[in-house]
Amino acid sequence: MCGIVGYCGTQDAQSVLLDGLKRLEYRGYDSSGLAVNTSAGLKTVRAVGKVSELLRALKTRRLAGSTGIAHTRWATHGMPTEANAHPHRDCTESVAVVHNGIIENHASLRARLEQSGHAFASETDTEVIAHLIEDALKDGAQLSHAVGAVLPMLEGTYGIVVASSLEPDTLVAARLGSPLILGIARDGYILASDASAILQHTRDIVYLDDREIVAITRAEYHIRTFENVTVQKPVETIDGEAADLQKHGYAHFMLKEMMEQPDVVLNSTRGRLDAENGTAVLGGLRDVEKQLRDIKRIVIVACGSAYYAGCVGEYMLEEYAGIPVEVELASEFRYRKPILDSGTAVVAISQSGETADTLFAVREAKEKGALTLGIVNVVGSSIARETHAGVYNHAGPEIGVASTKAFLSQVVVLSLFTLVLGRQRALSLVMGQRIVKELLALPHQIQVLLDCREPYRAAAELLADAHHALFLGRKYCHPIAHEGALKLKEISYIHAEGYAAGEMKHGPIALVEDGFPVVVIAPRDSVFEKSMSNLHEIRARGGSVILVTTEGAPYDASLVDRVITIPKTLEMLTPLLAVIPLQFLAYEAACARAFDPDMPRNLAKSVTVE
Ligand code: F6R
Repeated sequence: MCGIVGYCGTQDAQSVLLDGLKRLEYRGYDSSGLAVNTSAGLKTVRAVGKVSELLRALKTRRLAGSTGIAHTRWATHGMPTEANAHPHRDCTESVAVVHNGIIENHASLRARLEQSGHAFASETDTEVIAHLIEDALKDGAQLSHAVGAVLPMLEGTYGIVVASSLEPDTLVAARLGSPLILGIARDGYILASDASAILQHTRDIVYLDDREIVAITRAEYHIRTFENVTVQKPVETIDGEAADLQKHGYAHFMLKEMMEQPDVVLNSTRGRLDAENGTAVLGGLRDVEKQLRDIKRIVIVACGSAYYAGCVGEYMLEEYAGIPVEVELASEFRYRKPILDSGTAVVAISQSGETADTLFAVREAKEKGALTLGIVNVVGSSIARETHAGVYNHAGPEIGVASTKAFLSQVVVLSLFTLVLGRQRALSLVMGQRIVKELLALPHQIQVLLDCREPYRAAAELLADAHHALFLGRKYCHPIAHEGALKLKEISYIHAEGYAAGEMKHGPIALVEDGFPVVVIAPRDSVFEKSMSNLHEIRARGGSVILVTTEGAPYDASLVDRVITIPKTLEMLTPLLAVIPLQFLAYEAACARAFDPDMPRNLAKSVTVE
């Protein structure tokens, strides 16, 4: 999704901003731009396409100065054109604005501004902000006050940063529903929509909250609320190194992140497994331990891959903790008038912690009196801060747009959560100990899957030329079928559907014809035999079968075209192994079709608009 960088300091702003934009590229975007306060005034350069296009444009128009703002745009209002790229300007060209989010009342604001003589240069919702600030500056107001006066007029969500030639060494930023953080570096201040644009300069961060405005000069920053109350905020030192954001010799971030998955399990479980008592110790839930004992129902809210992780959690929690669980797409949850009370825990799962739909679902749940918990990867993100309690994934930064290691860590954390809730209830010590033991074995088992990648390449050959594919799974592997299909469609653009294997004969079997590829995820578990009958049904209609099953499973080799085996583990943990080959199928198919898996078209890493 759109990315923001702002810099005010002693360095060359253009270099700092461009470096920041490059590090935000992973979020997904279709144009970019920057504005710098130069000796000749506030100058803007924008370009359609990659940041490399912006670099090309800057070759002949270098912007020299030490205060500026920059943006990568993911089109919402208006096509990805240079005119629609940010920063946006006012009529006098003294103001430049970058914006993430959506201004919902932009049409009425625009009509009013046009009536009073403002001329618009773009189709975006953002441009109204620049013109409103222009009006607010007319009576000689300071930039910070002018921005403060405009914010109450805006409906929707925003993270904005504003520069002005009238105060060339000042930036003003504000947020409502869209993340913004302030990095405090030796040579100045950096504003950004996520930490990856800041980490190479400093690890000292101030997280802005909704309804806060920050005014920055080279020498100081001042934060206040929309109601004009000064706020003192803690400076937090964030973990992680800029080096985590490099590919370390891998062709793609996605591949690097898939290869990191043994460590991801280690990091997500480190210090959290209590082998003796067959349980998990989750420090982030300590304050709500008593409430957790009393809850009668869990509602999981999430989007995309995180939703499928939640679906695996539903099977785990119902089987081992005996608590009724519902998994809801966050985008539907808040419009459904959900029935919630203090006996319900609402668990929000989100890698970024900034997904607008999931964040709004958390707010809705809180308003209705439910206990809200977060399973979040990005430390200090909005969902992490707004939930009552939660568990961090500790998966490290995920740059690949298609989630891999974060998904895995979400399922791991859900298994830890199951242990905690299960042991508070009827889960036996022996079974708890068994789950812990199997969790401890996972990193090695995943490593085995990563060490032998030839079967994935061979299986991907069956997919690479296909237009459609079906993924089938039962019970714990039903959500994994959906996750596998999502991965394939996201990065290889092959249309793929995930289905509960038992549903095949209720419709999707009509698709199966000669050569139609079907990925069947059938580990040797309690529903293995049932899945074997699917193989016959697919074969009888000429379909090609890629079977993902457990080592030594007794399948009929004449019914399958490719087989990928995974090590044996507990049924509830099989998703953690079965998903690895599916990630590779998608990755290999995308590479075979010459698509860049790190830059899937139209997708954004962090979806901060509804
Ligand atoms: C799929 C993918 C997305 C995200 C979804 C939620 O590969 O990455 O479906 O899972 O957008 O994002 P988070 O977890 O950041 O809330």
